[in-house]
Amino acid sequence: MPVSCDSQIVDQLKKHGQDHLLRHWEELNDSQRQHLQEQCSSIELDEFKKLIAQAFDEDSDKSIDPAAISPLTQAIRLPEAGEEQAWTEARQTGHEMLDAGKVGAILVAGGQGSRLGFPHPKGMFPVGPVTDRTLFQIFFEQLVALSNKHGVRIPYFIMTSDATHQETIDFLKENDWFGYPEEDVFLFKQGTMPAVDDQEGKILLSEKHSIAMSPDGHGGLLNALHRAKLFEEMQRRGIEYLYYHQVDNPCVQMCDPAMLGFHKQRDAEISTKVVAKRNAGEKVGVLAEVNGTQMIIEYSDLSEEMSRDTDETGGLKYWAGNIAIHVMNRDLLERLATGETRLPVHIAHKKVSHVLSDGSQKEADSPNAYKFERFIFDSIPLAKNPLVIETSRQEEFNPVKNAEGDDSPATSKAALNARAHRWLGEAGYNVDENATIEISPLIALEPDDLRDKLQPEQLEGESIVLQP
Ligand code: UD1
Repeated sequence: MPVSCDSQIVDQLKKHGQDHLLRHWEELNDSQRQHLQEQCSSIELDEFKKLIAQAFDEDSDKSIDPAAISPLTQAIRLPEAGEEQAWTEARQTGHEMLDAGKVGAILVAGGQGSRLGFPHPKGMFPVGPVTDRTLFQIFFEQLVALSNKHGVRIPYFIMTSDATHQETIDFLKENDWFGYPEEDVFLFKQGTMPAVDDQEGKILLSEKHSIAMSPDGHGGLLNALHRAKLFEEMQRRGIEYLYYHQVDNPCVQMCDPAMLGFHKQRDAEISTKVVAKRNAGEKVGVLAEVNGTQMIIEYSDLSEEMSRDTDETGGLKYWAGNIAIHVMNRDLLERLATGETRLPVHIAHKKVSHVLSDGSQKEADSPNAYKFERFIFDSIPLAKNPLVIETSRQEEFNPVKNAEGDDSPATSKAALNARAHRWLGEAGYNVDENATIEISPLIALEPDDLRDKLQPEQLEGESIVLQP
């Protein structure tokens, strides 16, 4: 165990004016010293210095100039009657991509369910309308069904964080990976970035032996995949396309063939699914253009006036709500992880409690520090032929974000139940409209999978669960 800190690390810290991090070294025990030394060596100080400079640069424009923003000019909208042919063809292409084993899936599950008030990784949240089927189970069962249907292995890359990693692994193991082959699941942790004080750009200590680190955002995915050598794994398996989704939406249609097909047909490097915004105030990012380049603008960056702006038909000009489902080429992700151009960093002014030079703890009651994050959707303006595809909110976007109100467990369960009723109706069954229904993805990934498969007694009662 180190008695004194590694001299190279000390030199680097001194060079960058961050040697205050070792101020309490003499008071630390061996394991605390080890921890602090590891944290210090994990920060690329030469690179980090540039980010600090960016946070303090008054001239560096952190917000988007509203005059540069304009509505999206191209998107594949939901088909009107008579326009289904293109979707049928796209679906066919997508099936071929799946059959060829070229598709993998990525889940970002590093965030904590703090808004939801759930003290576990969000994927463990029970969301089945009848049973306590969790978000994770719904995703894994879809992959089991899809890989069986196409006779291929679909590797599932799950990004966790310090906060969610171990509990996620334990949960998935306890549940035998919900029947999915363990060797096709890759759990890897996202990185962290230090917080710096907003006066002098000094890195903050959360404790005498620990730097105030926070997750580097879902854009940290690229570095994390690279560090864990998962691009090589994808390459070995012949994976060319990645279906990306977030942890909070049980209605995601994993590896949607239509989306995959359009993506390939249009030679896109990234495709994004959107839904028409519920209303101007809905808190979703919007797909728009900035100086003619497609990108996602977070709701906090779009003025209220612009978000309410309507076109000649009375519809919202900024209608395209980001539901954070993408198809991405492996090449694009790898290029942005290792090439010259990297994802930009977003700087947030936040409250961070920390240790003062005299060793006392200072609680923050107002923003006092800068935190740094990357967003995966910043790859859109860096990609060739980015594509936007509209989907139905009822079918595909009913996330669990808040404890109550919109996007809560209640609305999400209700949406799954309503979708089950619709699917059974489409497949030709009559079901009591008051029944609560849950369909396991192992039984059906789409309404057609239910056709001529069910016996009348399976659809009796107030609570119906269709599962093997
Ligand atoms: C996000 C999008 C928003 C979109 C909405 C749709 C951002 C900044 N905004 O908002 O445009 O309309 O989803 O539901 O993404 N995560 C990590 N590591 C992190 C941070 C997040 O893995 O460091 C994961 C979370 O586990 C989650 C996803 O990223 O799966 C989204 O995170 P969250 O911060 O909850 O995004 P939203 O605010 O809901």
